[in-house]
Amino acid sequence: MYLNGLKLINFRNYKELEIIFDKGFNFLVGNNAQGKTNLVEAIYFLSAGKSYRTSMDTELVGWGSSALYIKGNMEKNKGSKAIEIGIRGNNKKVKVNGVELNKRGELLGNLTTVIFSPDELKLVKEGPSYRRRFMDQEIIQIKPSYYYVLNSYNKVLFQRNSLLRDALPGKVNDDTLAVWDKQLVGYGARLIFNRIQFIERLSTIARLMHRKITNGEEELEIHYLSCIDINGDKSLSDIHRELNISLERNRNKDIKTGVTNFGPHREDLSVNINGIDTRKFGSQGQQRTAALSMKLSEIELMKSETGEYPILLLDDVMSELDKSRQKYILENLAQVQTFITCTHLSEVMEKRYTQGKVFYVNSGIISSED
Ligand SMILES: Nc1ncnc2c1ncn2[C@@H]1O[C@H](COP(=O)(O)OP(=O)(O)O)[C@@H](O)[C@H]1O
Ligand SMILES: [Mg+2]
Repeated sequence: MYLNGLKLINFRNYKELEIIFDKGFNFLVGNNAQGKTNLVEAIYFLSAGKSYRTSMDTELVGWGSSALYIKGNMEKNKGSKAIEIGIRGNNKKVKVNGVELNKRGELLGNLTTVIFSPDELKLVKEGPSYRRRFMDQEIIQIKPSYYYVLNSYNKVLFQRNSLLRDALPGKVNDDTLAVWDKQLVGYGARLIFNRIQFIERLSTIARLMHRKITNGEEELEIHYLSCIDINGDKSLSDIHRELNISLERNRNKDIKTGVTNFGPHREDLSVNINGIDTRKFGSQGQQRTAALSMKLSEIELMKSETGEYPILLLDDVMSELDKSRQKYILENLAQVQTFITCTHLSEVMEKRYTQGKVFYVNSGIISSED
């Protein structure tokens, strides 16, 4: 799929913008604070119904105005699609092909994106929450129903933690706890079940991708570090049972510490290169390349799961990658619509792109060469 046209009214520093993009590479070039990331954010907003930079929609409304409007026209295998989002005060309206949606969840899967920004460069280096977010974000796009499960899990977890935290020592209400436990296990098992499948497929693609990017020098291995033992083929009910047992086993500890110590909210991924833990022992370059391989693998995974390539958003990362990685991206993503922000076109970018268009971003105004 690709985003053909985008219209913005009072979105961040764009007062009014109407733009037609290229099917291939779109280079957004400009100095700092001109609106490059804002544009990427607008595209992401169309896919997720929320920003990745802020949880406050009102921050997106152009200063001095009371409402914003975004419209994206996409071309998909099955024809064109339009997504519109309007925000006025605390009110957000989302329409797909003119039909208003009731919930954000209904938007998911319409426009799929893979975003790679400086934050994603931390994917391998930083704490487990980055890798959980990575799993969750990607599974949601492939399987939007996962979004509801994740939301429900987080709500129950919050309730259970409140119960544990607020109870007087030794006075946790067992009946209430049992209610939350049952729900936690129900939603949690579904999270684990989906994560197993996702990582299994992703790790295979990522291994091949990483080999190509490193000219066969490095073997990347990604393993899912689940909170339960996931060896062997596990059905949803197996997972359910094991999660239940483990939760029970940890109950006393949870009561003592006032928090849920165990479950999908504590999981992680291990990322190894040539058998060595990249997080602990990898060089910065290796960590970044591993993150790149993982993100690029999602593109292939989404294609195989949904039949369409997502849109790739590369915000401020090209300059962080060496020449050969840049070259890899420009030579291997011809079929993927890609947005690349940068302060200037690097030598590799100038030479390598076959199909693409350069846009200059200046204080919320975009111009192109033709
Ligand atoms: N709600 C808003 N209304 C108007 N301008 C905004 C708003 N939010 C951010 N900006 C402006 O957007 C600019 C930053 O844009 P950004 O896309 O992050 O820059 P960059 O080109 O470096 O990626 C800043 O000048 C900031 O003042
Ligand atoms: Mg930026």
